[in-house]
Amino acid sequence: MLYAIHEHLEKIELTISIKRNSVIFPPFTPVQIERLRFSYFVLIPNSIEFAEKFYARLFADHPEARGLFGEDMKAQHQKLMDMFTVLIESLDQEHLVVNNLEALRHRHVKYGALPEHYDWVEDSLLATLKDYLPHWESDDLVDLWKQLLSRISEVMKA
Ligand code: HEM
Repeated sequence: MLYAIHEHLEKIELTISIKRNSVIFPPFTPVQIERLRFSYFVLIPNSIEFAEKFYARLFADHPEARGLFGEDMKAQHQKLMDMFTVLIESLDQEHLVVNNLEALRHRHVKYGALPEHYDWVEDSLLATLKDYLPHWESDDLVDLWKQLLSRISEVMKA
């Protein structure tokens, strides 16, 4: 009985939070979503290397973040990139993106991630993306990725 009530309350909380965040996704036009997807698909063959470089940069710039993570980062590299793949694929399906980010948000509170850490992660991700995405400097791709990462962070640290 108690379990059923708890489950019900969780569903209500999820519904409320989806409504609260519903203005956040989708922020992009279909053309912008295609541009984000295409640029991400180009990165996929090197995604583990990308994740290694991202965490190396994050820990070099913010050594205090290293202690939050386990010793062996291999599984984490794969998990991060799997999550990005799901997010990028579902960019045009607001409820999927928000559901995923809400669940991530809850887990990240337990991992000890604080709101100010999200700026660190955004900066390191953007800096690493620049080395991997084609035509990075030549058009508005930087801006699209900035918007996407800052919206992800907004939901995760809410
Ligand atoms: C763009 C924002 C972020 C995304 C998309 C993201 C994604 C992920 C994913 C997919 C995992 C795997 C475990 C799971 O799914 O729960 C994870 C774990 C983790 N993340 Fe994040 N994360 C983000 C921001 C942060 C920030 C700001 C911090 C704090 C510095 C952080 C710290 C951690 C830690 C400590 C773990 C657990 C690692 C372990 O098990 O050793 N993350 N993250």
